Amino acid sequence: MKPTLSLPPQVAWASGALSGAPLIRKITTLGDLAGVFADEAAFRHGDPSLVVYSVEMFDTPAGEGELFTGVTHLNPGCLGEEYFMTRGHFHARREQGEVYFGLRGEGLLLLQNEQGGTRLEQVFPGSVHRIAGYIAHRLINTGTDVLSALAVWPSVAGHDYAALAGGFAQRVTKGNLRLMAKEVQNG
Ligand code: F6R
Ligand code: ZN
Repeated sequence: MKPTLSLPPQVAWASGALSGAPLIRKITTLGDLAGVFADEAAFRHGDPSLVVYSVEMFDTPAGEGELFTGVTHLNPGCLGEEYFMTRGHFHARREQGEVYFGLRGEGLLLLQNEQGGTRLEQVFPGSVHRIAGYIAHRLINTGTDVLSALAVWPSVAGHDYAALAGGFAQRVTKGNLRLMAKEVQNG
């Protein structure tokens, strides 16, 4: 049989830009995130057309055994005291996991189990995050640059946003981030 050689699609590690294959792009503006941030007055005064994050992914086949690959670009900023973040979700197929890789900027990955227990992982260029099944996940940009993270997940996983419509059990604000940083310093 004649061997075949093909050029695969690419990710530029420093920027998270995807290339070399058809892409799908979804933009999420502040107006799409009603009820997500704690400070409702700040939300009402915010610009609903402001882009909070975008997700770019390869337009690849879906189905049992298939994987999706995409990059989230989360802009820096705050609404009131709270840092910009993704909506966050459980997978509709709860048992399906995912891996995130930090590419650019600095932030946090908020992880929450079905009992409401939370933990935070630092996200930075080179960080690797194994998100097991049954764990909800949200990115938070605590830095001044765009936070970009690569994700690989089973195409059958789906998204369940409704289960977290009441919000995650933990919020990351300027105030509690300062406290967390102090705790890390003091061991
Ligand atoms: C896919 C995944 C990411 C997010 C993206 C946007 O399972 O976890 O690609 O979809 O970070 O976040 P959401 O979907 O919560 O708006
Ligand atoms: Zn996910």
